[in-house]
Amino acid sequence: MKGVSILGSTGSIGINTLDIIRRHPERFKVVSLAAGNNVRLLKKQIDEFAPRCVSVLTEKAALELKRSIQGRVEIGVGIEGAASAAAFPGADIVVSAISGAAGLVPTMAAIKAGRDIALANKETLVMAGAIVMREVKKRRIRLMPIDSEHSAVFQALEGHRRQDVRRIILTASGGPFLNTPLKRLKDVTPEEALNHPRWRMGRKISIDSATLVNKGLEVIEARWLFDMAAERISVAIHPQSVVHSMVEYIDGSIVAQMGAPDMKGPISYALSYPERIVSGAPALDLKGLSLEFAEPDLKRFPCLGLACDALKDGGVMPAVLNAADEAAVDAFLKGRIGFTGIHRVIAKTLDAFVPSKGDAIEDIIEADCEARDMAKGFINAMQGRG
Ligand SMILES: NC(=O)c1ccc[n+]([C@@H]2O[C@H](COP(=O)([O-])OP(=O)(O)OC[C@H]3O[C@@H](n4cnc5c(N)ncnc54)[C@H](OP(=O)(O)O)[C@@H]3O)[C@@H](O)[C@H]2O)c1
Repeated sequence: MKGVSILGSTGSIGINTLDIIRRHPERFKVVSLAAGNNVRLLKKQIDEFAPRCVSVLTEKAALELKRSIQGRVEIGVGIEGAASAAAFPGADIVVSAISGAAGLVPTMAAIKAGRDIALANKETLVMAGAIVMREVKKRRIRLMPIDSEHSAVFQALEGHRRQDVRRIILTASGGPFLNTPLKRLKDVTPEEALNHPRWRMGRKISIDSATLVNKGLEVIEARWLFDMAAERISVAIHPQSVVHSMVEYIDGSIVAQMGAPDMKGPISYALSYPERIVSGAPALDLKGLSLEFAEPDLKRFPCLGLACDALKDGGVMPAVLNAADEAAVDAFLKGRIGFTGIHRVIAKTLDAFVPSKGDAIEDIIEADCEARDMAKGFINAMQGRG
């Protein structure tokens, strides 16, 4: 029986994780859950899975929850509450699926408590890859990817020698605007941008998939997760989202991992590794399947180029990119800037920021706050101009 803690239990990854746990009560037991503000869903999850500890984002949410569950479970609040849920005794593995930079501190708390990690929150590695991987090695824990691309690479590396790898190829669907005329991009609405053709995901990652900054964040994530130089990680547009990523070896062989686009596949693999279990993901129908691959167009997707530049610059710059993107996506969803404003906010923030090394988590968090403020300044100045 594996004890599982889930950070972000009320989100898209969290709900899929609980679906898998529901199928395998003999294998998994929920130890703790961390959510944001969705008290109603968290209450249902507490009733069904009986965790010993939960956390919510605000005092108000905690009060509301307390009233409805009558002291059956320990309730934490805010970032500290999420960190306590992450380190709560009895868990073997922690699913890190809070969205955005808010996932970093609780994930670090889980690592420091010696838990294995199933990582969906890519921001943890984007912001603090060197620090996080150092800690993972020191504690000798296992960091399993949940991102479908990284899960695919992990699977394609299994049984092969690392020195035989030529490059990693991350696939990208291209999102909803792959074929939209470039001139129209400045006028697309949040609803259009949220309407991903292949995946059902949270709002932030859906917008990031439309700008392709998500693929840039994944390049940075792959750099740390697989200890691979940036030049050996490439991106291929693959609209069918059936090949989840590939590894090319020095003999010319390419090992690809395929499956239906459903996160239950990679989540279940991270939970049950090295075994495989029934996940609830549909089987891939191979009949009539055609696969296309193309180079990403950086004119259409400038955010991908910006993310790769931030990785080359190193230090705190990937965290700066991430913070600027979070501020810009929030502004876009609120109708304050246009879709093409997102890459302009990121570019301006990266240009204006004075780089530093970021040797400690505190330095990274400071850079994150400073970059967010800077980005908000640019958003205020741009507002109304799209
Ligand atoms: N969805 C996917 O298919 C997918 C695929 C690969 C990677 N990922 C990554 O997985 C992470 C989660 O994505 P998602 O799509 O599941 O997002 P989501 O549906 O928006 O869910 C986010 C979760 O985080 C919680 N949360 C947000 N801010 C919080 C905070 N400050 N403190 C505590 N909890 C907070 C939310 O709580 P409330 O809802 O209760 O407010 C919710 O449980 C992201 O890093 C994303 O990039 C997602």
